[in-house]
Amino acid sequence: MTASTSAALPIGLLSSDLDGTLIGDRAASERFASAWTGLPDGRRPLLCYNSGRLINDMRAVCPTVGLPQPDLWIGGVGTELACDTRPELAAQFQARFDDGWDRPTVQRIVAHQCANATAQPSDFQETYKSSWFLSNASSEQLADLQAALTAAGLKTTIVYSSDRDLDVLPALANKGNALAFACEAFGLTPDQAVVAGDTGNDASMFILAGTKGIVMAEAGHELLQAVSQVPHFRARCPIADGVIEGLRHYGVLP
Ligand code: GLC
Repeated sequence: MTASTSAALPIGLLSSDLDGTLIGDRAASERFASAWTGLPDGRRPLLCYNSGRLINDMRAVCPTVGLPQPDLWIGGVGTELACDTRPELAAQFQARFDDGWDRPTVQRIVAHQCANATAQPSDFQETYKSSWFLSNASSEQLADLQAALTAAGLKTTIVYSSDRDLDVLPALANKGNALAFACEAFGLTPDQAVVAGDTGNDASMFILAGTKGIVMAEAGHELLQAVSQVPHFRARCPIADGVIEGLRHYGVLP
């Protein structure tokens, strides 16, 4: 489905994935940086990087690839949030995740239920994020895992990306819900947000009602399937040039 360009309210926020979206071609990342920082101050939306990486890692990598400092960081597939001008938001954001979350039990159930899953390196793990490599999981295998987690009394959500990455998160955690929290915190509605991404863990940002999506040219089948009934713009240019193309489509960039 193709998105229309008409916007009732001005775009107030860009929520973009990093790897495969704004990161992947340094020259293109720099073109994004210069187009973004070139917007006049009053017309530049808030910039939010929304990644599967943890925030410490995001903070380290972005300057090395020429990306500008964002207003807001969402990391760990929607499990962490940081805003340097509003530090109180981080704890408010995570306070919603304790209900029904017990990480050691999650670890035990995934290891038992998915014999072919291996835990991702410890650098990728966090309090509210249990991440695994699990190649080519079927929808039945993922549904069985979700059922086992629920049967144990846990409230979790499963996010599967790139036919390889399995994230088990608290029920309320994903990139889209984190974006909804950010919109509310800044007095915006989701239809004032442009979102950009390429894999399964980005789907929740596109499904959040009203957001204006930029699907990367090289998007994976999980995202394409998830957005098949949702209006969106499909970029033709690769990586960050595709984000620039989408921002022009939505009238954010000239
Ligand atoms: C990033 C994270 C990884 C996660 C993946 C998919 O690569 O580092 O932990 O599984 O995104 O969400």
